[in-house]
Amino acid sequence: MSKRVFLIFSLLLAFSCSLVSFAQTKAVDAEGHQWWQHAVFYEIYPRSFADSNNDGVGDLKGITSKMAYLHDLGVDDIWISPCFPSPQVDFGYDVSDYENIDPMYGTLADFDHMVAEGKKHHVGIILDFVVNHSSDQHAWFLDSKSSKTAAHRDWYIWRDGKAPGQPPNNWTSIFGGSAWKLDPTTNQYYYHFFYAAQPDLNWRNPVVETAMLDTTRWWYKRGVAGFRLDAVDTLFEDPILTDNPIEPGTNKQGDPNQERKYNDKFPEVHDVLQKLRKVADESNAVLIGETWTDNIDELKQYYGQHNNELQMPMDFMFTAVNKLSPPELRKQIAAVDGAGGWPVYVISNHDIVRSYNRYGDGKNNDAIAKLMGAFYLTLRGSPIMYYGEELGMENNDPKRKEDVKDPIGQTGWPQEIGRDGERTPMQWNTEVNAGFSTKDPWLPVPPSYKTHNVATESKDSNSVLSMYKKVLALRHTNQALLEGSYTALNEDDANVMSYLRSYKGKAVLVALNMSASPQKATFNLADKGFSPASLKTLVATPQSSAKGSEVTLEPFGVFIAEVAK
Ligand code: GLC
Repeated sequence: MSKRVFLIFSLLLAFSCSLVSFAQTKAVDAEGHQWWQHAVFYEIYPRSFADSNNDGVGDLKGITSKMAYLHDLGVDDIWISPCFPSPQVDFGYDVSDYENIDPMYGTLADFDHMVAEGKKHHVGIILDFVVNHSSDQHAWFLDSKSSKTAAHRDWYIWRDGKAPGQPPNNWTSIFGGSAWKLDPTTNQYYYHFFYAAQPDLNWRNPVVETAMLDTTRWWYKRGVAGFRLDAVDTLFEDPILTDNPIEPGTNKQGDPNQERKYNDKFPEVHDVLQKLRKVADESNAVLIGETWTDNIDELKQYYGQHNNELQMPMDFMFTAVNKLSPPELRKQIAAVDGAGGWPVYVISNHDIVRSYNRYGDGKNNDAIAKLMGAFYLTLRGSPIMYYGEELGMENNDPKRKEDVKDPIGQTGWPQEIGRDGERTPMQWNTEVNAGFSTKDPWLPVPPSYKTHNVATESKDSNSVLSMYKKVLALRHTNQALLEGSYTALNEDDANVMSYLRSYKGKAVLVALNMSASPQKATFNLADKGFSPASLKTLVATPQSSAKGSEVTLEPFGVFIAEVAK
């Protein structure tokens, strides 16, 4: 074979192999599971992940430089919180152009490069689509507010006041104060569920719908694997603006509590989700929802009656359990596991205090962080991790009002201190600013970065990071964890959370001691078709083991084992 023919042949082979591997990750398996049902997702807050140009704020080139880390960790897809042009009033959740990248984070070319590098490392990109509102600096809104007859007037929700100086109704913004702002140019009020700089889009206007659907197509063509849809609950509100019922007391912003009966979870949202899903299906993409539901029936609705809406509505009721309580966790898992869709587990994100603080008891936080990782990464469903959770990163809350960056902390201080604490820079090593940036970062790192960072924990086989890596590696290779059903075990046990994941005669047993004292648990697996004395350790904390069908667990110990027939 001549050199040239050989070269062409090799190129063709490499090309077809890359196609095969891409197609494989996107294919449906024998169980009918889609790629996103096998994937582990990881949320990146782009301001805080990696800073390539040392200006104190993270960027896309920074994220790109960490693809190998993400892949080694066991992450399949990253969800990047909004990185689009934005005045950054709500740190990107106020988008002024849906089809570009904020210069602070880089360029569209940097984005394309990130997608390409991600592909090389088998890491897909999920973008955050802020569907409920834009920035008040978006060209659409600037035109909308310019006159009552402007082309974009009806792209937002404008109404006359009830009487001079009085907003159209009593709805309050979740970020404080009335949800209406008077605009002097036309002397009408516009509606904003969130900050005044985040006017709500009018999804009853079909032109808005078309523009937003087109935006998703535009990004799919650029190679994104899906979207996390921001604030879907509040897409629609009562067109006749009925006042919300007032409830006793005031909220953290000092406003009277109200039941959000007329501006939350309107049925029309499901039509929109079906349309977004149709477009997503053309690209085999996934839709993840920020779905704050109060009960399982509400969550079920987000899958759609024919599973034709969100593939992955997040189960925040799981985070609301908020304590190491096997009985309550079992109840919530059973509910979502039986809901008819695919469970989606999260334990923290950029709006919630980090799991390290929420579950930690102040004494055994590292052990508890490992336990939590071993827990939600072995359930049936797709987990969404939050950057730094794999290190046991903790909240670093502001101590003084003048240090607060988050608008809700500024308006609500001191009852509401805001969300800065859970958004601090990723802790890479022991160097200055945890190796995130040589310049002082936009938020300070906590002192614990000296011990809780990637470099230090990578060298310690007993670190939180090592536990995450072991469990994630197992999750990607073990058929029972990938495909298997979930069965709760020993349901009367108030201390040890245990369950079986089984698939085609193979099973994995997970036993987690959620208490501060040593525990023993005995398992009767015979009625599940397994012989009792055949537990083979897969991942365990040092003092946790099995003898026959009895498992001994150290305080907050983890024991994951293969069960033989
Ligand atoms: C979502 C985001 C939150 C943001 C809000 C307004 O809840 O997660 O960070 O402030 O929407 O866009």
